Amino acid sequence: MDHFRYREGHLYCEDLAVSDLAERFGTPVYIYSQAAILGQLEALRSAFAELEPLVCYSVKANSNLSILRVMAGHGSGFDVVSGGELFRVGLAGGDPARTVFAGVGKTDEEIADALEAGVLMFNVESEAELDAIARVAGAMGKVAPVALRVNPDVDPKTHRYISTGKMESKFGMDIARSIALAERSTGLKSVAMIGVHMHIGSQITTTEPYAGAAAKAVDIIARLRGMGHPIAWFNMGGGFGIGYRGGEARPVAEFAAAVVPAIKATGCRLAMEPGRVIAGNSGILVSRVLYTKQSGEKRFLIQDAAMNDLIRPALYESFHRIWPVAVPAGFPAPPDDYEAAIEGAAPWDVVGPVCESGDFLAKDRALPPLGRGALLATFSAGAYGMVMASNYNTRPRAAEILVDGSNALLARRRETLDDLVAQERAALEEVGGAGR
Ligand code: LLP
Repeated sequence: MDHFRYREGHLYCEDLAVSDLAERFGTPVYIYSQAAILGQLEALRSAFAELEPLVCYSVKANSNLSILRVMAGHGSGFDVVSGGELFRVGLAGGDPARTVFAGVGKTDEEIADALEAGVLMFNVESEAELDAIARVAGAMGKVAPVALRVNPDVDPKTHRYISTGKMESKFGMDIARSIALAERSTGLKSVAMIGVHMHIGSQITTTEPYAGAAAKAVDIIARLRGMGHPIAWFNMGGGFGIGYRGGEARPVAEFAAAVVPAIKATGCRLAMEPGRVIAGNSGILVSRVLYTKQSGEKRFLIQDAAMNDLIRPALYESFHRIWPVAVPAGFPAPPDDYEAAIEGAAPWDVVGPVCESGDFLAKDRALPPLGRGALLATFSAGAYGMVMASNYNTRPRAAEILVDGSNALLARRRETLDDLVAQERAALEEVGGAGR
């Protein structure tokens, strides 16, 4: 959190006052710190240095082109799950040869485009998908590099919506089926099975699930090699948890300690697909209070960011720290514990303008008294924030700002109402509809 700091009661992102940015670019606005992003990339690289890891930043966490460009410029690889994400990587100057293509539902067209681009490998999620890859590659006269996505059946102990390594999840194949598929694939001419991939979930805050998965990987790698597959990569996926509340995350060095010895012994190169741990605490969402209202015992702080901007609290009941950008006198900047009672702070539901009771950023949150126009910062919003935003209630999506020291780059302008109706307007013209 070093790059989002309070100085004399005012929140800064690197060297810029957040209130100035809100004034200049309007609200709601996502603000990212380039130094924070690169700091996390470096932390991962140094924690896993022994294996010279290929960090494939998981584009789904935050796919803003300016962030991808910064990552590519610092040698990061990428993890993409669609032709769209691969398109973004290309636009941002990313290297397809350092890009892995994951996802349970790749179309033939996406497979062909990825082969044409020359991705490092496909993470294969099913027998039928391997058939499709082999067929498309064969028709193109190419050999597709693939990693089998094995579901190790470990419990990552995270929210059920973001848990993927258990047997009942739709991702990957169980160990027995993976082995059987590898066996029947030894003769495939248009496929080279060069890796084993495992991704067990997201926001994982203990190291045991990784250690368990790595131990299983060692055995699977040996068996696949025994069949003649030239397994050169182990891709451990992403999932490293971050501190949303404060100290719940483990340092990445602890995750490294849990897997490095096992993987080192296999002689494989290590790839990983971190998303949240890079982008999550590198971004905040800044909003402005519109109204306050009291209804019985309940107090509502109605501000201009809504579930269409940040859906995580509504979808996962996830916790995000929220605190005023300018802290009223007598209040801490920021509190040590956002869930504890704070002298003079009353509990508020922080809600947005969207017409749903699920539209909230926080419930019963202790906040200082704030009036119309006050700015709020919602922390840990850099990952799965803007990428999951929608236009629900015909709300233009927020602007995104990338801060580097004392420079602010408008990385995505705020949408206009014209942007929102562009694809539909032609229909009105076609049927002779009126309007402006
Ligand atoms: N690799 C694969 C195959 C994945 O499915 C994911 C995330 C990642 C890597 C990156 O995981 P990370 O390092 O970011 O945990 N929208 C949810 C998170 C969904 C994660 C989906 N897969 C949220 O807001 O918590």
